Amino acid sequence: MCRIVVVGSINMDLVTQAPRFVGPGETILGERFLTMPGGKGANQAVAAARLGAEVALVGALGDDAFGQQLRAGLATEGVHLDHVARLADSASGTASITVADGENQIIVVPGANARVTPAQVDNAHALIERADAVLVQMEIPLDTVEATVRLGHRLGVPVILNPAPAQKLPTDWLQLARYVTPNQHELAILLDADPDEDFRTLMQRAPCPVVLTRGGEGAWYREQGEPLHQSGFKVHVVDSTGAGDTFNAALAVFLHEGLPTAVRKACAAAALSVTKLGAQGGMPGLQELDAFLARQAG
Ligand code: RIB
Ligand code: NA
Repeated sequence: MCRIVVVGSINMDLVTQAPRFVGPGETILGERFLTMPGGKGANQAVAAARLGAEVALVGALGDDAFGQQLRAGLATEGVHLDHVARLADSASGTASITVADGENQIIVVPGANARVTPAQVDNAHALIERADAVLVQMEIPLDTVEATVRLGHRLGVPVILNPAPAQKLPTDWLQLARYVTPNQHELAILLDADPDEDFRTLMQRAPCPVVLTRGGEGAWYREQGEPLHQSGFKVHVVDSTGAGDTFNAALAVFLHEGLPTAVRKACAAAALSVTKLGAQGGMPGLQELDAFLARQAG
């Protein structure tokens, strides 16, 4: 069985479905409000678990009602939570999300996620050592991201660094990651480049292998030489929140099948994920993913 360790954030997503986005000073009536589990780390953990991986999460929750709900939800998905701290004097992370026309706007308040420490990564050393891949994103402190990338590299375990939300990162961190997985916008920020520069040129300039997501247009990937393209799969988009997380999780789970196959499956899993509301709604199980891919081929 594939073993994955995820180091990352856990949020309660406060989701409002609205006919459109609001402007400053404006009030409109929305259609529906829901609280749903989210956070990039938790989303990636759940997506990998649904795809059949054995998953451990390193992170932090507050000692509050959201924290209890989020922990219970992750446990139901089969994610191992021994390395998820409960912080008495902190709120759990939240994300206020507006969904309109299949697009989203998100404000994250990190709460406990701002206190995920490098020491927690060290404490998960034994799990990381026997993992097939490690996933890390950037909704937790950067020194913890750095500790994850360094430990994975030292132990020879591939680390997939999902630079979201994006910041410029030191070149040596990027070089230690097995793959860096930005979208176009994040890649420009990561490399401190002109956002209008062609993303394929930027991919070739990156100091590391890049797997770049392009929403409905699929993904581009490059280890050496020219970037290669995987087309997106056509689906009816309800909510794109968490599509990137599903992509990253599938990439990690299927990495052992080779990069082209892993990217194709990651695009398919992400496509399925956007057909339902909520970051974790729509994340496919293995059978659903296989059936979807079989329909595409046939
Ligand atoms: O990537 C999607 C996630 O970003 C949401 O679940 C939200 O919590 C934010 O962290
Ligand atoms: Na979804």
